[in-house]
Amino acid sequence: MMESLRAAAEFLRKLGEPTVAVVLGSGLGDVLPLEGERVVAFTEVPGFPSPTAPGHKGEIAVGKLGGTEVLVQRGRLHYYEGYSPEEIVFPVRAYALLGVRVLVLTNASGGIAEGLAPGDLVLIRDHINMLGFNPLRGPNPDELGPRFPDMTHAYDPELREIAHGVAQELGIELREGVYLATMGPTYETPAEIKAFRTLGADLVGMSTVPEVIAARHAGLRVLAISCVTNLAAGIAKHPLSHEEVLEIGRRKAAELGRLLAALLPRLGR
Ligand code: HPA
Repeated sequence: MMESLRAAAEFLRKLGEPTVAVVLGSGLGDVLPLEGERVVAFTEVPGFPSPTAPGHKGEIAVGKLGGTEVLVQRGRLHYYEGYSPEEIVFPVRAYALLGVRVLVLTNASGGIAEGLAPGDLVLIRDHINMLGFNPLRGPNPDELGPRFPDMTHAYDPELREIAHGVAQELGIELREGVYLATMGPTYETPAEIKAFRTLGADLVGMSTVPEVIAARHAGLRVLAISCVTNLAAGIAKHPLSHEEVLEIGRRKAAELGRLLAALLPRLGR
């Protein structure tokens, strides 16, 4: 595995040497054009799995944003697509070997907490892993990180502080909450949402947690922003649909893009 990770990192190095990487989730793939960007498809990068979910495109761009070199991953890999946990975290690990120090993740989620509405942007403060797996299971690649990584400050408090500051400067409302990850691909039942709320979840989604775990393992600092695309099952009065998720994502994409464009250069310092 280390060898294919190194091959992927060396391939990506031809695009540049970014220190900040951002992963754009469902319907959010077009929000962040970079200056002079070089783009490759996932399929071109040695060892990279290719994405299958509708609304996800699967490319990597490296270019400048406010003077800082940034890597943007447009589209991501989900467990429900059939990838192994190791495949899902392959890109993040490759970025770590490339020299990325800060990873920013975005996703779409269902809102569980009282007061959340479709379109809200929420900074993830912590997570609950209900995926049923941990991507670090198996022999530990000691070169990447420790056997038992600490997860106390998985979502970097200092980076969250910076994000709140930038959001405020831009007049963008940014809330905070706990994200619970499920395996999907079904949306949750109303009973599950009720249980998740009792457990302390504010948001529910089908991604992000594996990448955060792998990133923390490799010593990256993490920031994650969720776009609430719908109220979670049973809170919403109508059945959930992927179209609704994509539509709200598209509507909020410009605002999220504005936030990221101002924020990412600040995180590279
Ligand atoms: N549940 C799980 N994943 C999601 C949701 C949801 O309600 N909305 C967007 N992604």
